Amino acid sequence: MDHSKPATKSKCHVLVTGGNGFIGSHIARRYFAMGHPVTVADIASRSHFRNVSPGIETFEGDLRDPDFCARVVRTADIVLHLAANMGGMGTIHEENEAKIYQDNHTITLNILSACVDAGVEKFFYASSACVYPTSLQDGAESDVSLCEHDVWANPPPRPQGLYGLEKLNTELVIQNYATGNMKTYISRFHNIYGPYGSWKDGREKVPAALLRKAIVAKLTGKYEVEVWGDGSQRRSFCYIDDAVEGVLKLLDSDCHVPVNIGSEEAISIDDLARKAAEAVGLDLSRLELQHVVGKPVGVASRNSNNSFVEAELGWKPRIGLQEGLTRTAQWIRDEIDRLQETAQGEAERAGLLENLGESSLVRLRPGKHIFALLL
Ligand code: NAD
Ligand code: GDD
Repeated sequence: MDHSKPATKSKCHVLVTGGNGFIGSHIARRYFAMGHPVTVADIASRSHFRNVSPGIETFEGDLRDPDFCARVVRTADIVLHLAANMGGMGTIHEENEAKIYQDNHTITLNILSACVDAGVEKFFYASSACVYPTSLQDGAESDVSLCEHDVWANPPPRPQGLYGLEKLNTELVIQNYATGNMKTYISRFHNIYGPYGSWKDGREKVPAALLRKAIVAKLTGKYEVEVWGDGSQRRSFCYIDDAVEGVLKLLDSDCHVPVNIGSEEAISIDDLARKAAEAVGLDLSRLELQHVVGKPVGVASRNSNNSFVEAELGWKPRIGLQEGLTRTAQWIRDEIDRLQETAQGEAERAGLLENLGESSLVRLRPGKHIFALLL
């Protein structure tokens, strides 16, 4: 495979849907820094980056609306589609899955057909490790290593919940839809983490949640850190800068089948909690992990196999977990400090310290939808 292909042509108009979200905001800034005109389309008016790059235009609106989709893609050469109703296990749990399926599939079908109509050159879709069969991820005692073709192991495919099913359906729609001359690219992200993502709104994934709890432990001197489940669940975590690099390489490649973008360094959630504590400078000998049952835990064991993506793109993650956690911890610590700047923030900070930084679940309003009968 030739990895020295010329990069994306010098001035492409790049649209990032969900560009005020975690991964999208990093990607938007990266393309902007490379000199491309960048537009963001998001239902949220701003990202966690406070100093919005002047020059990145934001279209604020709802991508479930096809007219909004048509408007935002009009001048785009490249569309990176990251908008989704999503989050960690505190969001994609059973209670919310029907709503998530409907929102995400509606958004994606709208944006996809708007892109085809507008003659977009390249379309990137953010899929997920949740497409892999849950049957391959049942045993926490040994590490699994999920290769791209494993989606089709043990047919029929059994992705994780309706969130995973929607991602898999969309992968298939993209690969089988008449996309004309539009080139399509699909990444399967495995738990991406880093600064400028959700850290306290219930949508955060476990790295941010455990860092928040460890920082609160440090601030309060109460060394108890709540961990959902028994802590033996295993995951791998990929730092955001590595993930962005992977996406950029993918878009400059001839690879049009789904690729894993993740880390191969699996770890138990208990060990992740210890690393999070280390990242914030807690005395590990005083750390007490408090396991709670009844919270959503997802699959028992998941890990990325990067053989295919490395061969195709010459990409592999470079930032180790401890280093990435330390960088993320610094940002969350700054966010907690910043809360003190307003009365409302100060009250929120006091609440965080009082409940020891414990996580809450997101409960989405179901609304009227095709799965109403399931609820
Ligand atoms: P995020 O929640 O930070 O970003 C998603 C963005 O989409 C948000 O800014 C949100 O406001 C926007 N959005 C949601 N509904 C919208 C709507 N109706 N109209 C317009 N905008 C809307 O999530 P993220 O972590 O940045 O994830 C980005 C993409 O990558 C998603 O498609 C997600 O499913 C996928 N993914 C992420 C991970 C991960 O570890 N972060 C893992 C697997 C897949
Ligand atoms: N979110 C969260 N918060 N999870 C916790 C916590 C906590 O405070 N404590 C322990 N966990 C456990 C969860 O119960 C789960 O077993 C594990 O940590 C990982 O949880 P998440 O990071 O929330 O999600 P995930 O890895 O199961 O799935 C995420 O990654 C997928 C891609 O690999 C989600 O973000 C999916 O949406 C995403 O597609």
